[in-house]
Amino acid sequence: MEHADLVILGAGAAGLFCAGSSLAQGRRVLVLDHARVPAEKIRISGGGRCNFTNLATGPDRFLSGNPRFAASALARYAPGAFVDLVDRAGITWHEKTQGQLFCDGKATQITDMLLDRMRGAELRLGTAIERVDRQAEGFVIKTPGGAIAAPRVVVATGGKSIPKIGATGLAYDLAAQFGLRLVETRPALVPLTFAEQDLALCRPLAGLSVEARIAHGGGAFHDALLFTHRGLSGPAILQISSFWRAGEVLTIDLAPGRDIAADLKVARGSRGKAQVATVLAQLLPDRLAQAVAAEAGLAQARLADQPNARLEALGARVNRWQVRPVGTEGYRTAEVTLGGVDTRDLDAKTLQARKVPGLAFIGECVDVTGWLGGYNFQWAWASADAAARAP
Ligand code: FDA
Repeated sequence: MEHADLVILGAGAAGLFCAGSSLAQGRRVLVLDHARVPAEKIRISGGGRCNFTNLATGPDRFLSGNPRFAASALARYAPGAFVDLVDRAGITWHEKTQGQLFCDGKATQITDMLLDRMRGAELRLGTAIERVDRQAEGFVIKTPGGAIAAPRVVVATGGKSIPKIGATGLAYDLAAQFGLRLVETRPALVPLTFAEQDLALCRPLAGLSVEARIAHGGGAFHDALLFTHRGLSGPAILQISSFWRAGEVLTIDLAPGRDIAADLKVARGSRGKAQVATVLAQLLPDRLAQAVAAEAGLAQARLADQPNARLEALGARVNRWQVRPVGTEGYRTAEVTLGGVDTRDLDAKTLQARKVPGLAFIGECVDVTGWLGGYNFQWAWASADAAARAP
């Protein structure tokens, strides 16, 4: 039987990084992946430019059953360490907004850097993982090409999002097989879908992006919101999708920092002859103003004819739009999977299963899910590095 010191399952962000960090320990490292190409998610990340970290990374930027769990790994492998690697590889980058660092060029530069860093480890692509079993001295991994024995296994097969490019629930199946608890998984950082009656406003506005503020379930975000044919998307919505649960109502401010009812009342005093839609269009993007006025039956109405109650209702529609999404676009488009391997069953320093020495879980399969903005990759690097350093 073939032998390795460490077998890493999954050649994605976390798996490749763990392989590179493990070489420093002098280990014989083998990385297995069923895909034909490594790190497909890096390639499509950040709109093709990979938002590879966030300078504001801290445990407060993650959702988890235990928000403090990630603190140790994140503190030991900080964003600056990854930026150093990127700099040394000659990859140029820029800060887009709010600490989000993106490549100036293609995202695949990051994959190339990771592959270069793990030279010395073996990467075996197109390899299905049939079974992982425990034996007296560690583990046996069965693949169609034969069995591999190793005292250590790191599971880095990610979450369920985007099955089309190779995502599977293998990590969760293995966790369950070895007796670890799982936190219920669901798609996150994902567009929300609406019922027919709510689409009446969204559909004509499809493609329009506006600034919005949404607070829900402990998260609060002020960012762009995008109307779609099926509901809402854009950074503000993707962020809040991680905090939203089926059946809950969202309250959305489509004009943050402006009190639309108050502004309309003031305008009624000075420009009463103007149409409601015309005045609204000075306060909001034109298409949104027209749609909101039309929906209220005020497309042609004069501002002077509107009583306070009607202007207040119009203002509430904009500043406190209440909507109950019927669902999400699901794993087909979700950027990440929320939930996963329960952190109570993992050691925060080594990411190893407390009850199964030698078996670690890293990256997205762990119940540590970052906000949008480079946090998920930073968790992949940090958790991978922590597992690699395990004595
Ligand atoms: P990852 O999914 O990267 O890798 C898992 C690997 O395991 C894959 O290579 C897969 O083929 C393999 N695998 C799965 N099942 C297997 C099986 N049964 N047998 C063998 N191999 C198997 N994050 C961020 O911080 N900044 C960003 O810009 C973006 N952008 C972004 C865009 C899009 C469209 C998506 C979908 C996601 C992002 N993300 C992101 C999230 C980020 O991509 C994600 O959190 C990390 O890739 C997770 O790294 P992992 O290594 O844990 O899993």
